[in-house]
Amino acid sequence: MSELETLESTLLAEIDATADEAAIEAVRVAALGKKGSVSELLKTLGGMSPEERQTRGAAINALKTRVTDAISARKAALKEAAIAERLKRETLDVSLPVRSSPTERGRIHPISQIVDEITAIFGDMGFAIAEGPDIETDYYNFTALNFPDGHPAREMHDTFFFKPDENGERKVLRTHTSPVQVRTMENQEPPIRIVIPGKTYRQDSDATHSPMFHQVEGLVVDKTANVANLRWVLEEFCKAFFEVSSVTMRFRPSFFPFTEPSFEVDIQCDRSGPIVKFGEGRDWMEILGCGMVHPNVLRAGGLDPDVYQGFAWGMGLDRIAMLKYGMPDLRDFFNADVRWMSHYGFRPLDMPTLFSGLSL
Ligand code: DAH
Repeated sequence: MSELETLESTLLAEIDATADEAAIEAVRVAALGKKGSVSELLKTLGGMSPEERQTRGAAINALKTRVTDAISARKAALKEAAIAERLKRETLDVSLPVRSSPTERGRIHPISQIVDEITAIFGDMGFAIAEGPDIETDYYNFTALNFPDGHPAREMHDTFFFKPDENGERKVLRTHTSPVQVRTMENQEPPIRIVIPGKTYRQDSDATHSPMFHQVEGLVVDKTANVANLRWVLEEFCKAFFEVSSVTMRFRPSFFPFTEPSFEVDIQCDRSGPIVKFGEGRDWMEILGCGMVHPNVLRAGGLDPDVYQGFAWGMGLDRIAMLKYGMPDLRDFFNADVRWMSHYGFRPLDMPTLFSGLSL
């Protein structure tokens, strides 16, 4: 076998043996690169006699062409094989169910949902949101709200008291959201239109009571606020909240130290089925307490009752949530059971708004 034939068969065998594009490239450089075996042969042409160059030159060039072609062919084959392999590896079964993402799976607690719904409704009416501390002074929780010292109304609230501090002052876990009324009046000039959602605490626990529960409070103070305004605001709220076109409400005289006159409000409903229906039926259900802000409360807030007047209301959120969404036991709200949450919870990106619907 001539020297050229040996080189050619070695190169062709090497080309044949390559397994990927990097390997074939290495063979190409070793043969056809500047210092490659074939290139070195071509360099010898210069030193040949014209006759020799004719035969041997042609043979070397022919060899170069065959090697070049073999390399290109192998390169193309390897490239195709690589694509085929990748396609095989990256198959996608479009019939598989889409895996849900964490944002899809998370749920909004019904209480958070209700707070969002209520603030959406009152926000639309021009109310702002106010908040206050859960650990409250006796003054804001009771005294400023016109509960006289030693008055039995203080006991009515089954208050959680803290141990007295070094000044003998006993803080409380606020028993209602009403203290934020006075805190707001102290800090804001009327007109005031606020809603106050928040946690509240009383020593009470059964299927419909929990020691920690939620309320939303409303307060309007200006120079002309009156019972007719109060009634309209609450009626508009109930229609929007219960997602019905009309509601019938009943205002019963009642007593709260911080309002005069005071009312309890019932809403007409149908309780004959498993779920309470609003906007129809012949039953009544109490949903909130309200009234005209007592002059002593305005005074405690630094406002002159001869100039300003206002109305307020307070409503328990947990019971309302149970009614609206048909949840039978309040204690489930606070058990942190994911099965309960995935059933009763709300989808995180479905923010309640008045135009898109509250609870859809
Ligand atoms: N704070 C009262 C409670 O927890 C509820 C309430 C009644 C609030 C009448 C008010 C109101 O603002 O005007 O029982």
